Amino acid sequence: MYRGMDVLSALQFSRSDIEYLINLAEELRRRVESGERLELARGRILFTAFFEPSTRTRLSFQFAMAKLGGLTIDLGPEEATSMAKGESPEDTLRTVDSYNPDLIVVRHREPGFAARAAQICRAPVINAGDGYNEHPTQALLDVYTIWRVFGRVEGTRVGLMGDLKYGRTISSLSYTLSNFRDVEIHYISPRELQPREEVLKILDQRRVKYELHEKLDEVIEKLDVLYVTRLQKERMKPEEYERLKGSYIVSYDYLKKFKHIPIIMHPLPRVWELTTDVDSLPQAMYFEQAKNGLYIRMALIKTILGV
Ligand code: NCD
Repeated sequence: MYRGMDVLSALQFSRSDIEYLINLAEELRRRVESGERLELARGRILFTAFFEPSTRTRLSFQFAMAKLGGLTIDLGPEEATSMAKGESPEDTLRTVDSYNPDLIVVRHREPGFAARAAQICRAPVINAGDGYNEHPTQALLDVYTIWRVFGRVEGTRVGLMGDLKYGRTISSLSYTLSNFRDVEIHYISPRELQPREEVLKILDQRRVKYELHEKLDEVIEKLDVLYVTRLQKERMKPEEYERLKGSYIVSYDYLKKFKHIPIIMHPLPRVWELTTDVDSLPQAMYFEQAKNGLYIRMALIKTILGV
């Protein structure tokens, strides 16, 4: 990791980058939780441009910048910008980049958009999700969460469940996990939502052990982590969504059937695939996971700004 770098894909992270960011996140967390007011990013400006809806990613970047003592300018909803008059996101970014932000965070429905933004902009660009492709900072907070629970990532058995085809958190998390020895990935999904070829090809190249499953029952008792994802409704045909809706649900009653319950993670938002009665289990980690996102993003911003 170095100052000024773009973060476009989780494939950029080495194991030592991830460990560096986790350690820094832990240090920043201690300082923030002890009540210290950080001024590390004082005078620096983060620009957040989300062309797709977002709660956690957008707001945790903004909170992270605020807690580092910096400022954020947000694009706001598209309807309030000249894109409502037909301006392209590229022209929008080129303009804002000329105002000299220190860092830009972008999300867009098109795969490859963040890479294009990085070519247009002088400021470093962080990919906060480009269509079905990738969501590298989500993967950082996911791995940070696993590390906080188990004290290591190596050797963990991680089940990734749900929409593995259109879910960008799945590809980025798979790539990030591939840095750690003896990790086993179990993909659990309806057949038509299995992970994309390009993702499995990279895991093969990196000699990661993985298996594909259609039923969670087959594998749940082997898992340390069960990472549930929603159907990416906005990326599929309406009839596909209707057919697959409700085809996998993790509930309290379902989990209680097993002697061993893995920790339950979810990038959120959840819809129907993870019921709210699971929240009362000690294994429910998804809100903790969202909280971890704040600290890992503080670490990432600090590193890229070089402050
Ligand atoms: C995810 C995303 O946007 O890809 N949300 C998030 O950033 N936490 C997951 C999703 O939308 O399903």
